[in-house]
This record gives sequence, structure tokens and C-alpha cells, in this order.
Amino acid sequence: MASNGYQSGFGNEFATEALAGTLPVGRNSPQQVAHGLYAEQLSGTAFTAPRGENRRSWLYRIRPAAMHGRFEPFLHSWFHNDFGDGPVTPDQLRWNPLPIGAAPVDFIDGLFTMAGNGSAAAQHGVGIHLYAANRSMQGRYFYDADGELLIVPQQGALRIATELGVLEVEPQQIAVIPRGIRFRVELPDGASRGYVCENFGALMRLPDLGPIGSNGLANPRDFETPHAAYEDVEGEFELIAKFQGHLWRAPVGHSPLDVVAWHGNYAPYRYDLRRFNAIGSISYDHPDPSIFTVLTSPSDTHGTANLDFAIFPPRWLVAQDTFRPPWFHRNIASEFMGLIHGVYDAKAEGFAPGGASLHNCMSGHGPDAATFEKASHADLSKPDVIVDTMAFMFETRAVIRPTRQAIEAAHRQRDYQECWAGLRRNFVAPED
Ligand SMILES: [Fe+2]
Repeated sequence: MASNGYQSGFGNEFATEALAGTLPVGRNSPQQVAHGLYAEQLSGTAFTAPRGENRRSWLYRIRPAAMHGRFEPFLHSWFHNDFGDGPVTPDQLRWNPLPIGAAPVDFIDGLFTMAGNGSAAAQHGVGIHLYAANRSMQGRYFYDADGELLIVPQQGALRIATELGVLEVEPQQIAVIPRGIRFRVELPDGASRGYVCENFGALMRLPDLGPIGSNGLANPRDFETPHAAYEDVEGEFELIAKFQGHLWRAPVGHSPLDVVAWHGNYAPYRYDLRRFNAIGSISYDHPDPSIFTVLTSPSDTHGTANLDFAIFPPRWLVAQDTFRPPWFHRNIASEFMGLIHGVYDAKAEGFAPGGASLHNCMSGHGPDAATFEKASHADLSKPDVIVDTMAFMFETRAVIRPTRQAIEAAHRQRDYQECWAGLRRNFVAPED
């Protein structure tokens, strides 16, 4: 299955066929589909969702998705939605990168659940996972019925063959696989590592721009959806489903990536984070990090997201009489951060590419002692430029619950809070 380019736009009504003359004209489900294919609708929103939010696609395929064997539990220790219901530590938490082992591990087996909130059953919240893999998925396909998957590679490219076409992404690009779409992940560069946010809530969309105007942040035309591409292969394969927090497996006698043509607006896409149009202060202070939102999943409360995906890309710092790095803060929102590339400007050390941090609701955090010292005395007469960096944040309205396996993991930095221990008392009371 070859990659054959992309279609531009966010949430557009696309139409694409790998064999000319496949898409029916004037109806979605004709009595007989061209080339002996089956017609199948895939709905990603309620049938009656408002038109601007409604997402569905029509697939014209060799066999319908219903054809597979019986599902049985797939016992997998690390990828799940068991976020627990006991006490959650308010401690600030940080982890080193997830090690990539020598034993063969594919994308599915390499997923390690770090944290999450809400549930697939409740249709709100997120699951936050890391992956570390060293071989392509072979004879195995996957779909997630619980949420859409935002995949953030940190090391190694991914070739994601989906029912609707092939997405190729490298570090500093992201891929989004909508809920239910079947896919297989290949690793063209071998050892690979990255982050996955599983969104149980409303589909991610572009944020409103308000006074910014009609351009800026992530521009719609930079989102790319693949053209149709299909596999016509039979064999003894495995279909793995994630359903209500756990994995299931069923035998399937053919590749489920057999969609010859499709049309609609429910489809996977990719985006290159280097195309993000960062907007910031040109006077003093800096705006809240919502100014860096790439995609947002709204909640039932207006203006309060189920999930915001924000990035901290290369940019100029020009604000005057201002502490230029991110300031000390406590928020009602909870923040899970990762680093794709380079150095994050609020931490001098300890936050490595592939690492992660979690700062939950009202847990204080901010620059470490070394960064505070440097930024407090920096020369602000000249602009400063931050290059070679790409950090990101999954920010949610609900507390992010670290999993037991994340708390107990060998790669957790048990001394993280020490990074603020060196902040000196500078206060001097004025004398009478
Ligand atoms: Fe923060």
C-alpha cells in the first residue's frame, strides 16, 4: 500500500478513490457498488449533531468491518484505562524517557499508560500513554473504540496504514486517528518512542481565534488527510480492539485496510507542529499558554476544555521589564507535559526529550532555581530567540490521575521537587 499524497484542510468533506470510478454519484449506498464493493457508513458523532460538528464518512470496501472472528480478552499489562479511584498525590511528578528494550515490541505492545481521567463509558476525559517500540506491527491491526488517538512521535518516524489511507509522521509532526478507525503502525526508522493522548470526549477541533483574527496558530490548510489506499490481502491476522478500557483480540482472515474509496469528513489527519504560527507578547508579560493551543476538545462547560493540546515551539522573546520564561503558577486545570525536541525554557535540566511531567490542579510549579536566577538578571534590552525546542502539554479540566504503574515505574524521578529547593529567600523588609 503506497502513500500517494494528502488532501488539505481541517474537517473538510473529502472524496478520494484508489480505483477510478468507485465512488457512487448522487447517493451513498447504491443498490450495487462499483467493482463489487460493499458500502459502509462510519459515524464519529451523533447522527443529529449540529451540521458544523457532524462527522461521518462512507467507505467502499472489499469486505464489511463486521467480518472477523469472536473477540477474546487480550491480556496486556501496560495499556488500559485503570486510573484508580483512590487518593491521588498532589505532588509534582516527573519521569525520564521510557526505555526502549532489546526484545521485539510493536506499537501496541509498547504502549504504557501513564495517567488519565474520566472514562470511555462517561465519554469525557483522556488517557495519556507513552510508547516505546522497535518493530512494525506484523499481521496485526488495531482500533480504539474508546476515543480518538493523538499520536506525538518523539523518536523515529511512524508509517500508519489506516482504513482511509496512509499517514507518515516524524518527530515534530502529529497524527490523529479518529475513534474506531483500524490501523497498523510500521516503524521505518526502527526504534521509536512517543506520546499518545486518547480523547474520550468531543472530537478535537481548532480553537476559536477571537481577537487574533482569521489567521494564526494552527492554520486549517496545514492539516493533511491521506488519499484512499487499500490492501487486498488474505491470511491469518489478528484484530485488536480497545473497548471500555481494555484490549480484546479477534482472528480476521483478511486485511481490514481494504477500503478502495471513501468520502466524508471523519478521517485521520496529520499536522506538522513546525508550521504553527506562534503568537505572543510584543510589550510586557506573556499571555496564558492557551495562546499555544493547537487542538481543543470542548466539554459541556463553555470555554472549559476536556482537553487542550498546546505546544511550546521555537519563538522570539521580546517582552520588556518582564520575567520572560513561564512564571510560577497554580491552575485549576491539570497539565501533563512532554518534550519532543531540544530544551524546555522553564527548566535548566532534568526534563529530557521523551520525558514527562505532571502538575495537577493547584499544585504549584514553574521555573527551577537555575532558570529563575538566570531569567531574573537577563539582559532585556535585546530580543532573545528560542530555537531547537518543541515541548507540548495535554491540559485537562479534570485532575489527571497517574496510574499505579507510572508511580512505581523505575523511570520516575523521585527527587523532582528538589528542583525548586534551591530558590533563595530574597525578601528584605524595609527598615523604618
Ligand atoms: Fe504549568
